[in-house]
Amino acid sequence: MNKSTILVTGGAGYIGSHVALLLKKAGYNILILDNLSFGHSEIVRDVLDVELIIGDTNDRLLLDKIFATRNICAVMHFAAFLAVGESVHHPATYYKNNVVGTLTLLEAMVSANINKLIFSSTCSIYGISNNIPITENHPNNPLNPYASSKYMVEQILKDFDQAYNLKSVVFRYFNAAGADPSGDLGEDHTPEIHLIPLALLTALKKREHLVIFGTDYDTPDGTAIRDYIHVSDLATAHILGLEYLLSGGSSDMFNLGNGNGFSVREVIDVVKKITDVDFLVKEGKRRPGDAPILVGSGLKIKSKLNWKPQYPSLETIVDHAWKWHRKRHK
Ligand SMILES: NC(=O)c1ccc[n+]([C@@H]2O[C@H](COP(=O)([O-])OP(=O)(O)OC[C@H]3O[C@@H](n4cnc5c(N)ncnc54)[C@H](O)[C@@H]3O)[C@@H](O)[C@H]2O)c1
Repeated sequence: MNKSTILVTGGAGYIGSHVALLLKKAGYNILILDNLSFGHSEIVRDVLDVELIIGDTNDRLLLDKIFATRNICAVMHFAAFLAVGESVHHPATYYKNNVVGTLTLLEAMVSANINKLIFSSTCSIYGISNNIPITENHPNNPLNPYASSKYMVEQILKDFDQAYNLKSVVFRYFNAAGADPSGDLGEDHTPEIHLIPLALLTALKKREHLVIFGTDYDTPDGTAIRDYIHVSDLATAHILGLEYLLSGGSSDMFNLGNGNGFSVREVIDVVKKITDVDFLVKEGKRRPGDAPILVGSGLKIKSKLNWKPQYPSLETIVDHAWKWHRKRHK
């Protein structure tokens, strides 16, 4: 099978690499564009074995060249900065990379008559909610510049559809976690900011202790509650979204979550059980911009795109991440 080429921005990163793997298995040609600010070229070379262009979404000349010379039929856009706390202190960096970079990409797409885009948004645009699980029509109230940057792009995409017929599928991810079951791909951010990899690195003795950010939230055990979704399930949703757009689907937006919330303490307990390591945990202050509870309803994507998560259990998510971390850090 030889399908058209998909441009994957940020494909050397955590989620983009898992989606690229699945795209390749589904028979698509893939071209990855990544500036390697956080990505891993050796993963693209050794595991994915697909073409990587090292470059930036803010580089309009490069984008024009790619679109003029390659038979790109759709773009999957993962490239962004994503550290909530950092975005509070450096908003300009976040708006420039996430909003201006995306606008540059979208303008280049319109010029080249490429009108299909999958975009990575975030559940953090919902802000604080008392209606759990959160559905797609929940009001938006981004609490930090990172979330605002994603919210702004969602607005831009609505306008680009109306003005230029650019069709998009927006996925609002809840907490992406886990690793490809093979153990060959997984999460490796530097600095690491996500709970499960931080806990696993502590279990591996790469860190002295794990800090819980906030123990005074209005939740049963005082720690923040999140909805963890296996990165491979998230990748499957992207293939479904792509096929939906390629078959003429109109623009739409979907939550990507499992509908189950786990507190920070519950996640730590599962990590200790799976790794069989009892590591040191310290209690710290809340981080600016963090919501107490974010749990998403996945009903819309299940009914409209027929998405079925294969690995909804937190134990499986942690188990697959553990396999990757042991291999990566041996
Ligand atoms: N990880 C999560 O739980 C989560 C949750 C919600 C949304 N998201 C979104 O999903 C996407 C992927 O997240 P991830 O966890 O894989 O992050 P990641 O940092 O692992 O991957 C992002 C990749 O984009 C690249 N990049 C960043 N800015 C770029 C630019 N201007 N030009 C070219 N490349 C650039 C980085 O080098 C990196 O390889 C992001 O858009 C993020 O906002 C992630």
